[in-house]
Amino acid sequence: MIVIYPGSFDPVTYGHLDIIERCSKKFDQVIVSILNNPTKKTLFSVDERIKLLKEVVKDLKNVEIDTFSGLLVNYAKTRGISTVIRGLRAVTDFEYELQMALMNRELDNELETIFLMSSSQYTFLSSSMVKEVAGFDGDISGLVPDYVEKAINYKLKGD
Ligand code: COA
Repeated sequence: MIVIYPGSFDPVTYGHLDIIERCSKKFDQVIVSILNNPTKKTLFSVDERIKLLKEVVKDLKNVEIDTFSGLLVNYAKTRGISTVIRGLRAVTDFEYELQMALMNRELDNELETIFLMSSSQYTFLSSSMVKEVAGFDGDISGLVPDYVEKAINYKLKGD
């Protein structure tokens, strides 16, 4: 089975990587797809996010990095894939994720969403939190891979 794992990934964290690794073990192929949303202000450009993701998944041979814009259902159809993966960190994610999954099903009855539970050690993690902590010189080494940590520090402080 081939699955799509969509998101903003601004930037990828250990929480995302945990979901990607689980998918890589369970499914034949995983397409991690970055939403290209020009109206959302991001720290990293789409090209930079692609580069960061490619680096951190380089040892996972069945993982591909891609981008999409517009509706997820249309992207999935274009790629001929009918399964989407989303990670659930805590019960607070549930309502938003349920809404998204049901809306996607309304738009395309063939599209199925599978939820994977995040590791408990990452339930508090989000990309904005990582950026906020880094912005105040906090230690983000346990939250993102080294390569991403360097990219964040370079972006925020130029070092
Ligand atoms: N570990 C760590 N953090 C996680 C995580 C995990 N397992 N899962 C989600 N997060 C965090 C992300 O870092 C992000 O944090 P931030 O808000 O601080 O940046 C936040 O949770 C949101 O996650 P993300 O996966 O990027 O979701 P999103 O809401 O930005 O985007 C899409 C979800 C891309 C799937 C959705 O917006 C989409 O499909 N858009 C296309 C338009 C469309 O089809 N709309 C109709 C359907 S509603």
